[in-house]
Amino acid sequence: MRRPPRTAIFPVGGLGTRFLPATKAMPKEMLPIVDKPLIQYAVEEARESGIEEFIFVTGRGKTAIEDHFDHGAELNEVLSARGKDKELRAVEDMLLDPGQVAYIRQQEPLGLGHAVWCARRMIRDEPVAVLLADDLIMAKTPCLKQMIEAYMTTGGNIAAVMDVAPEETERYGILDVSSDDGKLASAKGLVEKPAPADAPSTLSIIGRYILDPAVMVELNRQEAGSGGEIELTDAMARTIGRVPFHGLRFAGRRFDCGSKAGFLEANIAFALERSDLHQDMTRILRRYAQTGKAGPDTGATVA
Ligand code: G1P
Repeated sequence: MRRPPRTAIFPVGGLGTRFLPATKAMPKEMLPIVDKPLIQYAVEEARESGIEEFIFVTGRGKTAIEDHFDHGAELNEVLSARGKDKELRAVEDMLLDPGQVAYIRQQEPLGLGHAVWCARRMIRDEPVAVLLADDLIMAKTPCLKQMIEAYMTTGGNIAAVMDVAPEETERYGILDVSSDDGKLASAKGLVEKPAPADAPSTLSIIGRYILDPAVMVELNRQEAGSGGEIELTDAMARTIGRVPFHGLRFAGRRFDCGSKAGFLEANIAFALERSDLHQDMTRILRRYAQTGKAGPDTGATVA
């Protein structure tokens, strides 16, 4: 009997240079979408998909993430003394059980494959999920859950995939497709960030993976790719032939929160889904759509 992954790795060691100065002292994974940090969306997705063990691969300057998922005794006291039950529930319900979370330092930023490899000693000989918080997915059924359902049939390695515009292939791991039923695509190869002219398809890997233990064996070789980094895409590609690789076209909407426009759009989209914000946001958006501007300023003049 195939067993679903019960452990998830969250690589959160990246510097977040695209969001400087906001990310100078704050991890990019703590940037909020409405009122919840990006990393919490990823953790909730994993939890709702049945994940029981959460491994964060962190780096310097990332302690805010540990604090976020820790019990805040003082804050809780203040909230309960003030009768702020809703807020108290918001900070309590997100906590994981003691011992469910582990933090590992990636001492040097040597690539996504290297980050995943840093967690090797905490993983048994079993499949593991990897979630990149930058890729935020709005879905009725959590994206990872959809992948686990597919995995129970296919086994092997699975990544979430979607078609991107031809000029965008150099931002993603791209599948060299051998068969495709419109939902699951099987790959005979993978290429990390190819130029559009060299891309074998436009089917791109989005930051959700289920990895077969064979990938960790490949990562043990510590081979750097053409960009000088140890790539997860390359390690998965080297297992093809021994281990099947599938891309799942997940049902849902993906926001690239590693880019400013994607991050801003995610804030709008998630706010529109909220009953407490929907009306205000619609009014504001309508005004921007009509005028293309922030609206009249105060009218006061500067002497
Ligand atoms: C990483 C992976 C890439 C994947 C992407 C998804 O790239 O290396 O294969 O398509 O995540 O977001 P990064 O965005 O970290 O450069």
